[in-house]
Amino acid sequence: MMDENPAVLQEMVTTPEQQPRSDEPNPVLCNKYKYRRLLLPPFAVSLFATALGLGIYSHLQKTADPWKSKWKSAAPLCLSPACIRASEHFSVAMDPFSRPCDYFLFACGAGGSSTNRDRQRVKGEVNKHSEVRTRGLIEMRRGTDGWSKSDGQLKTFPDRQTALLTAIKEILEAPDEAVSMGAAEQKAKNFFKSCMNAESREKMGSEPFLTLLQQLGGWAVSGVWNQTDFNSTLALLMGQYSTFPFFNVYVGPEPSEEQSASNRHYIQIDEPHFQFPIEWNSKTQKAKANTRYLRPFYSACGQYLVLLGVPSDRTTQHCGLFVSLSTTLAVATFPLPYRLSQKLLYRRTTIQELQTLAPAVDWLACLQATFQPLLISKSDIVLVHNLPYIIHMSKTIHLWQVQHELMGTGPLNTYMIFSLLQTLIPALDSRFFQIMRNYSIATGDTQEMPHWWRCVQQTERGFDTLLSHAIREKHAQKEAEELIQDVYSSLKKKLTDLSWRDEKESDFILNKINSLNPRISTNTNNLSYTELNHLYEKVILNEEDFFSNYLQILLLEQKSRARLLSLGTQTEGLSMTPFISGNDIIVPVGMFVSPFFHSSYPRALNYGTLGSLMAKDLLHLLLPDIYTKAKNPETESLCVWSHYLSVTKGPGWGDAFYLPSSKQQEVWVQYSALQVALDAYKMSFKRYLADSSLPGFSYVHLFLSSFTKVTCDTDAYREFMPLEPSFLVTVLCSNSGLCPKPLTCMNKPQSFPAEMCQS
Ligand SMILES: *[C@@H]1O[C@H](CO)[C@@H](O)[C@H](O)[C@H]1NC(C)=O
Ligand SMILES: *[C@@H]1O[C@H](CO)[C@@H](O)[C@H](O)[C@H]1NC(C)=O
Ligand SMILES: *[C@@H]1O[C@H](CO)[C@@H](O)[C@H](O)[C@H]1NC(C)=O
Ligand SMILES: *[C@@H]1O[C@H](CO)[C@@H](O)[C@H](O)[C@H]1NC(C)=O
Repeated sequence: MMDENPAVLQEMVTTPEQQPRSDEPNPVLCNKYKYRRLLLPPFAVSLFATALGLGIYSHLQKTADPWKSKWKSAAPLCLSPACIRASEHFSVAMDPFSRPCDYFLFACGAGGSSTNRDRQRVKGEVNKHSEVRTRGLIEMRRGTDGWSKSDGQLKTFPDRQTALLTAIKEILEAPDEAVSMGAAEQKAKNFFKSCMNAESREKMGSEPFLTLLQQLGGWAVSGVWNQTDFNSTLALLMGQYSTFPFFNVYVGPEPSEEQSASNRHYIQIDEPHFQFPIEWNSKTQKAKANTRYLRPFYSACGQYLVLLGVPSDRTTQHCGLFVSLSTTLAVATFPLPYRLSQKLLYRRTTIQELQTLAPAVDWLACLQATFQPLLISKSDIVLVHNLPYIIHMSKTIHLWQVQHELMGTGPLNTYMIFSLLQTLIPALDSRFFQIMRNYSIATGDTQEMPHWWRCVQQTERGFDTLLSHAIREKHAQKEAEELIQDVYSSLKKKLTDLSWRDEKESDFILNKINSLNPRISTNTNNLSYTELNHLYEKVILNEEDFFSNYLQILLLEQKSRARLLSLGTQTEGLSMTPFISGNDIIVPVGMFVSPFFHSSYPRALNYGTLGSLMAKDLLHLLLPDIYTKAKNPETESLCVWSHYLSVTKGPGWGDAFYLPSSKQQEVWVQYSALQVALDAYKMSFKRYLADSSLPGFSYVHLFLSSFTKVTCDTDAYREFMPLEPSFLVTVLCSNSGLCPKPLTCMNKPQSFPAEMCQS
């Protein structure tokens, strides 16, 4: 009690006065309690008031609750380097609570974070006055502030992908420490260094590819071709070079078995990736290559061949054959919705059966090469995702083989070598990359990745196990485990309290939620240094020869594919959202990077940021259709929406703007994620009675600012949100006594709904 500051006390006492007078027409239908209040006879009102007074009194007596006595106190400063960096994202000078309503209405759009045209439009419809306020707020945000950047705007959070790649880059560029440095880590660093070193690559030119081509027996394009066997070349490309010209091969579980918690993984066979966009005609139900891109493709093909020293009089013929074979194959591809509707996915067959259906490929030899040293046998099950394509491909290969045998033009071989070239372009000099870039720009892909991004991604391709291990070691220790457990238990609590539409359904869902075990990444992530070094034992890197380093990455990829098939455990360290694997919910280590999380951060920051993101991800993962299963999403989201309308439009607009159910669900998910994260933070706070903070922030203030920051800057689901997610803080704060000040709006006579929009 003693350490409760007077401002807070006063706030708690004045809270009831913030409630709208009950004679005021209140448009908001939040929940049943409101009706009850309206029906109260006068004497009951006084009784009610007394009870309320007593309630507040006993509430104040409960200072034994450590959370309630401390949540608003000033906290000791966190001065770790990570915290100092994090404070660039936050600022007390722009204290949201000084103009709370305005702030939370426009925090995302107005603050220099990303703007969303769609949301702007909704805002415009809802309140024309908002323009004026927004402008005022932008000015407020531009105010001088020691912790923000020189342009007066706070640094925005990067998206999760950028944050993860940056974290990996830091690991790869960290100065070598003699202690704790495994040989494997050194190899990853050397690979990255050789990737970043463009000079040696430029010096080599196209030489490395030409040498490799010679080893593979040449191709008809250059006039030097050994008439190599189709099947052996195909098996070689699939096994050694991660290249799948005619069909794609990968490993994964079968969805129908997911419920049974089996961890079994299967070989999956799918359509290949084509070099140009395929068009689907939904009337004729036929696919064809988009002719608009054939000309630029043709020209790129010619440019590649010139770089490989092919005389220009030959390029026309061979590029022509390549385009013709590709477009013939593409005819039998289908877009995913069509394949779903025709039940073409996950067709189970044995390798032997596949051989009879598509005899032009030696399936057993190709799959054995792809998964060596595993034993693959004819009776093994594979899952095929478009059998009609596979049959069509086989017929086409047979036909082209027969037709071109006598002419010696070898189009099937050319096609395979061309696919190999595509795989290897990142390892060749920049002229090849430029041609590929220009071609992607022609097909509408204008997004340019910085060179270091590509190098990090290539390192990740081969060293994913090592890197997820390193991230875990560096970033995601005990604090991460606790965050996961706290978020999951408070999520379970939230879901147990829901009112479900159907009892059987709710039993099923709650059982599932209770039986799942959330954990941080898979067990490949706790390999010892010895095991890790063993994994990368055969890799020998040469700083001057990136091409040969890159070939080794492709071999590592082959090994990890085989490992996945035999063990069923994936190194998911580098994915960024939780997923289910057997009985586990895997929360990948890739989520635990700054600025989203750091073990030295105040917990208020970790729980407000990553805690709320994780809660949101888990709700999307576990209950994608919660809207149809429970009643709360509808009532609670409409309650939030009414708050929003009453603030932006004034009273009486309760039902004026209909909210589609997908948006209702998203509002509920995001509001619930905020509640779950706060609840998780309280749990953690009760365990350790102190926390640190950033300059000027109380615990709860930092928690709410973190939530606002992360949802504004990196919300992956923003297209479904009809309002700024920061507004959810206003709703949470109304009458909860949680915020430093009640969040009322200036310049707006309003009847603020009394309820907190809770079930
Ligand atoms: C291709 O043929 C030449 C000449 O017969 C031979 O020296 C070379 O080893 C062959 N290469 C392959 C990969 O078969
Ligand atoms: C590949 O091998 C299979 C199986 O041995 C054979 O039936 C097919 O004709 C071969 N394909 C080509 C194009 O030679
Ligand atoms: C790529 O496009 C740019 C701009 O159109 C052009 O200047 C450049 O020569 C092209 N490069 C290649 C390798 O085609
Ligand atoms: C890694 O984790 C798994 C499961 O959590 C455990 O069984 C195994 O012993 C651990 N391995 C090491 C090397 O710690």
